Amino acid sequence: MNEASRPEEITEAVVVASFGACSDARTRELMQALTKHLHGFVTEVRLARDEWQRAIAILAETGGITDEHRQEFVLWSDALGVSMLVDALAIERPTGTTESTVVGPFWAAGSPIRRFGNSIGEHSGGDPAWVFGRVTNESREPIAGAESDVWQNGVNRLYAVQDPDVPEAHLRGLFHSTRDGEYAFLGIRPTPYPIPADGPVGRMLAATGRHPWRPAHIHVAVHAAGCESVATHIFDADSAYLDSDAVFAVKPSLVKQFVPRTLEDPDRPSGVSGSWYSVQMDFVLARQPDRAE
Ligand SMILES: [Fe+2]
Repeated sequence: MNEASRPEEITEAVVVASFGACSDARTRELMQALTKHLHGFVTEVRLARDEWQRAIAILAETGGITDEHRQEFVLWSDALGVSMLVDALAIERPTGTTESTVVGPFWAAGSPIRRFGNSIGEHSGGDPAWVFGRVTNESREPIAGAESDVWQNGVNRLYAVQDPDVPEAHLRGLFHSTRDGEYAFLGIRPTPYPIPADGPVGRMLAATGRHPWRPAHIHVAVHAAGCESVATHIFDADSAYLDSDAVFAVKPSLVKQFVPRTLEDPDRPSGVSGSWYSVQMDFVLARQPDRAE
């Protein structure tokens, strides 16, 4: 039995002795590094007992508030920059392929399959935005049948998963690219929104003088056979908060201009009866090395 009592002895007993015999090398590496850094943090700040109790209470509250509609753990990961760090450390994609960014806590499975050019709106509100482009591989060859999973928040700042007053499928949809790799859908010009601030993450932001706002964006996750999937955003170039995103997710290549268009514009999409916007975003997918033909 270990009889460690001094701080460095406790750390040694946990990090080296307790996990040293773990037969799975990766599990051993993860648990040893996790406990080493956790003990290092506690030691560095000389964590007081009441602070430790508060931390446990915050974790318990995070679990309690999390359900299928509210993902407070993802919010912690996003707000502390861990999501973007994991993304940055992932296998590097070839130059020129579409950059990824956070998935965030508002993605939901089961979006409806919609046809080329259809609207994702199932409820009124918002300025129409025609979102279009082409899905290609890194050789710029079009990919037919690539799936674009899109979701965005409404003018009331809420995603459908947060808003009991709109249909579940509001501002969400699955689109499949044409033979020429083209996709298009009618969304709305996105609006900035604060990440949920009524839980422990929100209190952390307030206590540290950080704002909860995200710049306006549309989420798109693109999947195609034989290619690496990419989960990304289309950011509105005119949005506030592009330089201070609460979750650190802005990448310059993802910032696009929403072009104002008029009622008289011959390209006006069907169902649009006033002024509208258009934005082009092409997706370039990297080949999946082990499945390349
Ligand atoms: Fe979002």
